[in-house]
Amino acid sequence: MPIQFNKLLQNMAKLNNKQTIRFLDMSIETKNGLKTDRKYSVKTVFFLVLILAGTMLMSCDYNRKTTGWDFAGDMINSNAYETYSPNPNFANGRTMQPPVPGTIPRGTIPYQYKKTDEDRALAAQNLVNPVENTAVNLERGKVAYNIYCAQCHGEKGDGQGRLFVNKKYNYPPGNLLSEKMRTNPEADIYHVITVGWGIMGEHGSMLSPNDRWKIAMYIKHELQKNELTANAK
Ligand code: HEC
Repeated sequence: MPIQFNKLLQNMAKLNNKQTIRFLDMSIETKNGLKTDRKYSVKTVFFLVLILAGTMLMSCDYNRKTTGWDFAGDMINSNAYETYSPNPNFANGRTMQPPVPGTIPRGTIPYQYKKTDEDRALAAQNLVNPVENTAVNLERGKVAYNIYCAQCHGEKGDGQGRLFVNKKYNYPPGNLLSEKMRTNPEADIYHVITVGWGIMGEHGSMLSPNDRWKIAMYIKHELQKNELTANAK
């Protein structure tokens, strides 16, 4: 529907003599070639523009967290209790309830070794890494190691992580390349990740068993090997 502005222009030309424009004339050509002449008073156009500008301003948000005007309150303020909202119906006053004590998530096998030296030795002796030693798994181990361990143990595993070097973390993190750690099997590292050791906290709740094995594998097969070749040079 091409809008022909020639009439509008003609009107503009008349402006010189008339001083004011009262109407904006537009001839609009419809699909079947018919022409319709429309007259819009300047006032109408002015109000239309004003309404458009007003709508645009109103729909701007004050900040990224609110939707500005709230026309349908029910959609913003839920009638149901939200997960983290207080709830008078429960004795502990919360909506989200913890699982019943002793609940075991589907697909998880509870870890049977405790955070003691005896159990660490037992775990090292009894557990076997079920994860295949492949490039993809080692790569995943590297990614997870760099996220969960490197800040303390260092990217090379030498215990010189960022947090320790810049003195944010005072206790020396273990050197994963030591004689002792090179002799210990992957299961020993798996145990330490799962329940922690000494001052180091557990990481079992943050990492899936498979990821823990992949990290142990990465330490054994990449970091410790790199250390050996570096020493041999
Ligand atoms: C917040 C710092 C920190 C993080 C993160 C951390 N560790 Fe540790 N780690 C330590 C400290 C400190 C020790 C020494 C504990 C002690 O001697 O009491 C240690 C000890 C260890 C040991 C035992 C070393 C030995 O000589 O017996 C292993 C194995 C280990 N960490 C592996 C890991 C792995 C794998 C990760 C990542 C999943 C990790 N740690 C994450 C601080 C950390």
